[in-house]
Amino acid sequence: MAFEGKNLVGVDIGTSSVKVIQIRQSSKGIHLMKYGVEPLPPQSIVDGHVMNGSAVVDALNRVFKDLHIVQRDVALSISGHSVIIKKLNLPLMKREELEEQIQWEAEQHIPYEISEVEIDYNILWQNTEAGQMDVLLVAAKKEEIQDLVEVVRQAKLKPMVVDIDAFAMQNVYELNYGFNEAETIALLNVGASLTTMNILNGAVSQFTRDITNGGASITEEIQKQLQVSFEEAEAYKAGGGLNSQEVVPQEVDEIISNVVDALAAEIQRSLDFYMATTSHGEIGRILITGGTSKIPYLRSAVERRSRVPVVLLDPFRRVVFDERQFNPEVLKAQAPQATICLGLSLRKQKERV
Ligand SMILES: Nc1ncnc2c1ncn2[C@@H]1O[C@H](COP(=O)(O)OP(=O)(O)OP(=O)(O)O)[C@@H](O)[C@H]1O
Ligand SMILES: [Mg+2]
Repeated sequence: MAFEGKNLVGVDIGTSSVKVIQIRQSSKGIHLMKYGVEPLPPQSIVDGHVMNGSAVVDALNRVFKDLHIVQRDVALSISGHSVIIKKLNLPLMKREELEEQIQWEAEQHIPYEISEVEIDYNILWQNTEAGQMDVLLVAAKKEEIQDLVEVVRQAKLKPMVVDIDAFAMQNVYELNYGFNEAETIALLNVGASLTTMNILNGAVSQFTRDITNGGASITEEIQKQLQVSFEEAEAYKAGGGLNSQEVVPQEVDEIISNVVDALAAEIQRSLDFYMATTSHGEIGRILITGGTSKIPYLRSAVERRSRVPVVLLDPFRRVVFDERQFNPEVLKAQAPQATICLGLSLRKQKERV
């Protein structure tokens, strides 16, 4: 994806907050210029759908103003039920033939009317001797894209690229860790209502899946069992109270571990499915990110089930930043929530999606 052009501003509209990142590329690497997070009121986004457009527009306006970003060209992402990803193994063919074949394949594999979806594809691998190629087919519902694009336009921004979380996360991994041809790793982004998995062998994505579950279910359970507000439950979950005198009720730990165990079991089912269907090697390492990855017990619960080492993905590992502008400790604490947005900010104007 080494195309010329200026980087877009990454705009990640998640269930719990809007995240915005602007980077600059130089011969020294990727420089972090701006990073901001603006919380969204509960129910603004539900299952990836925009339910309260004006709340999202307000949050976008605020964060662009606070950060003094003048650039309006942005990269967005959509995920969840409205996106379908299929890996196809096809006989080797020319671009023009593939264009036609993709339409046909999409009709076979996509459970929506073809007129209702936007289709894109990417050649993962091709081998002249074997006469084979692997192609990744991506289809997303036009309606979902249009709804999101409309909200972003209302905030006077210009969406140039619509990506998906799984690929944004993969680009961040590649930037910070490179890749080893012989290695299979799993990337996991655990947000508020969505968990995105992308399993890579070398630089090639082998399996992606979105699980519609995340940290919000922990907050809901704390609210329900302890009869407290959303804000209080969020504070308890992160290990504190609404004020410094407040003590976290002792039940909280148990609620967290029960909900996290259920989430880790769901993650394991996807890992098992991958292992049962792959011809590639075992997963050597799981890198976890997203706001919910801040719960240490999630890492150990996934590790215990999968018997694979789980580490936190560091999205800023190879990103240059000015320590006078970004306090390293603060940035480190916010890093898990920045991954998708950083991945979007790596996208450029002129490249083909
Ligand atoms: N310190 C913390 N401890 C526990 N959970 C946390 C902490 N900080 C954030 N979270 C949780 O992380 C989640 C938000 O993460 P993130 O910003 O990655 O999600 P999102 O992009 O808003 O949502 P989604 O991608 O699911 O639509 C929330 O559920 C929040 O409660
Ligand atoms: Mg998210």
